[in-house]
Amino acid sequence: MSNSIGVDVGGTKIAAGVVDQKGDIVARTRRDTPSQDVSGIVGAIIDVTRELAAEHEIGVVGVGSAGFVDAGRSRVMFAPNLAWRDLDLRDRVEDATGLPVVVENDANSAAWGEFRFGAASDVEDMVLLTIGTGVGGAVVKDGALYRGANGIAGELGHLRMVPDGQLCGCGLRGCLEAYASGTALVRNAQSAATSAAVTFSGSAERLLEMAAGDPGNITGPMVTAAANDGDELARELIADLGRWLGEAMGSLIAVFDPATFVLGGGVAEAGDMLLEPTNEAMRRSVTGGAHRPHATVRFATLGNDAGIVGAADLARL
Ligand code: BGC
Ligand code: NA
Ligand code: ZN
Repeated sequence: MSNSIGVDVGGTKIAAGVVDQKGDIVARTRRDTPSQDVSGIVGAIIDVTRELAAEHEIGVVGVGSAGFVDAGRSRVMFAPNLAWRDLDLRDRVEDATGLPVVVENDANSAAWGEFRFGAASDVEDMVLLTIGTGVGGAVVKDGALYRGANGIAGELGHLRMVPDGQLCGCGLRGCLEAYASGTALVRNAQSAATSAAVTFSGSAERLLEMAAGDPGNITGPMVTAAANDGDELARELIADLGRWLGEAMGSLIAVFDPATFVLGGGVAEAGDMLLEPTNEAMRRSVTGGAHRPHATVRFATLGNDAGIVGAADLARL
């Protein structure tokens, strides 16, 4: 069986690789993501595919993209944080490259990579949550990706945590993503740092220093780095995010009873500062907690490669 190409379509970059049977990336390339521009993004996906296919024998291409991908693994029906509506992504890339193409949800791809070759390769039932612009989710059940009736299962970022809560990019209110995404983290950090700057509480000192005194400059990686440097506000914000994740996990356990949760995305750099409040909230919110085995919570181990490897491997199935 020949190698396949995996393409990970992210908010800042489109990363692609040639992946072998063992899940190793034997060649890679990338482009910056042309922001919000549909044909530009599709063009970049075609570009990276052509570049890799010119040098390698390729059987199939897997494209992992944010959004609701249909059961035929061909169209992106809707993507909350992209201007994509009913996009025939598979046909467009197939027509331009002459290769067979399979489209998968980005988080499903990352989860499959971690399940086959990474943090969850020792279990049969796992749930992945990945924290970025949105909150991605995926469920592996009895060793298979759980797709649901329409291909859209595992949209765990849109679990509704708070009726009439914070507005989410999907148009609803109160979704997990509105509280526990990187976007929410930055929003909360900017507004909390603004009041900290006004009240001179000192708790956001390091964070403000990194942002050159302007809360509007704060980014997600800054919050994580400031937390690692001991900034109190940053630590508190990371802990809040962990508590939201833990709350959601409690409910997810009631449905799926997974052996493990895998957490991905940049906030994983916060390590135990994230993991402890997550675990604590999960144990507190799971039903029958005193009378059942507990799911473990682990960080993803494939990092930015999970989406490439998972999309390439899923495309072979
Ligand atoms: C989308 C998902 C996607 C996730 C991470 C969410 O807003 O609904 O489809 O997996 O963001 O990109
Ligand atoms: Na998903
Ligand atoms: Zn939502």
